[in-house]
Amino acid sequence: MTETVDNVQRAVSAPAEALARPMTIGVEAYLSEEYARAERDKLWTNVWQQVGRVEEIPGVGDFLTYEILDDSLIIVRTAADRIRAYHNVCSHRGRRLVDTPDGARNAHGQRRQFVCGFHGWRYSLEGENTFAAEREDWPCGLTDEVISLKQVQVDTWGGWVWINLDPDCEPLRQYLEPAATLLDPFQLENMRYRWRKWLVFDCNWKVALEAFMETYHVPYTHPEFMNFGNFLGWARAQGKHSNIGYDAPKGMDENQAKLRVGSGPDARRSTIELQNFTWENSNTNTTRTLVDAARRLTEELPEGTPPGEVLAHWLASARRDDAARGVIWPTVDPRDVAQAGTAWQIFPNFQIGHALNNMLCYSARPFGYDPDKCIFEAAVYELFPAGEEPATEWEFTPADDPRWRTVLPQDFSNMAAVQQGMKSRGFSGPKPNPYRERSVVNLHHNLATYMGTGAPSDLA
Ligand code: FES
Ligand SMILES: [Fe+2]
Repeated sequence: MTETVDNVQRAVSAPAEALARPMTIGVEAYLSEEYARAERDKLWTNVWQQVGRVEEIPGVGDFLTYEILDDSLIIVRTAADRIRAYHNVCSHRGRRLVDTPDGARNAHGQRRQFVCGFHGWRYSLEGENTFAAEREDWPCGLTDEVISLKQVQVDTWGGWVWINLDPDCEPLRQYLEPAATLLDPFQLENMRYRWRKWLVFDCNWKVALEAFMETYHVPYTHPEFMNFGNFLGWARAQGKHSNIGYDAPKGMDENQAKLRVGSGPDARRSTIELQNFTWENSNTNTTRTLVDAARRLTEELPEGTPPGEVLAHWLASARRDDAARGVIWPTVDPRDVAQAGTAWQIFPNFQIGHALNNMLCYSARPFGYDPDKCIFEAAVYELFPAGEEPATEWEFTPADDPRWRTVLPQDFSNMAAVQQGMKSRGFSGPKPNPYRERSVVNLHHNLATYMGTGAPSDLA
């Protein structure tokens, strides 16, 4: 595994270096309505998009829908080992086949067939038209091809279902590299939703995602975290994708920097405080098991235990506690942990914040063709004992809803302000930190290859 990871890493390092220079980005990609319209055909039609989890459609006939601008898709399990995706449109006169309930993110359910509500045409799970009333009235005949549902490319990786509207797209696995190889050891497919929420922001989808793909903002947007240690880190270009990770704290290997122990004179106490704060104020990036194991640190370790040993003890005891209830963490080579960092930005609009027993993911996509609006989703996943996974739904949760608690709303408070600020005549374009925000430059570098405009340029 390590050898493969190294090869993948080397393969993408050359272009990554070119993006390390100080660069600036035009505001067109964030503000232009014309650009937002062009994204439909140039971007969203040609990329793999994550649409949901495999476990959301466990049985034959289980389906969910996904909407991206004017396109709606039905993703349905047609056999124990097969998932198919179709354009969600009746081939007769174009009625949406499955409606999204008012206020819901998407439709989901279980069907033996799909029946159009307008004139009753029917389709099997395999997409064939099985009934068109008075079919003999078409003297030329209605060929099966003309009246079947139109298929869309679909595949799975990491426990997610992905679609691509381009019939000639590259295979998903190839598209996802090197992220797929570097994330495979984390066995993300075994995690299940703990909660999932969505909302609409008054900003472009790139503004929303970019707020989470760097650590440069942490000391200033989330000053409370500075009580617990240093949360600054690097960003690397990884081909189409990028990843970020924390800089190693002094005296600790980079590969241990993945899960944080608190800083200060007593790493035991600051780790307890950091875990309590995170659990109560963001409900992300940790689990009940990790919090409980942290809370025992002062009983189990003597004062003066060095931070590295506190971390090792904490993780070993949490791993053991989980194993005792049937939750087996993956064992990941420390070098792979270091290379994988803390989060991956999967081009163009999905972020995976992976860890050994939990993860935090974000996605953003346009809300119609208004460049000032986007749909944003956040979900926390965790390893649960078999059969004890909570039943969750996408909950529409506006930014000021207390269910977001306090940390994420700090990020949310920047969204509309950035979108409006970028419209100022006094603003000459984003200037990402070449070390900590290279992920932002990389996103626009790759967007430009799809859009044909908007490539970052040298700042100097
Ligand atoms: S539009 Fe679907 S049956 Fe007529
Ligand atoms: Fe943040």
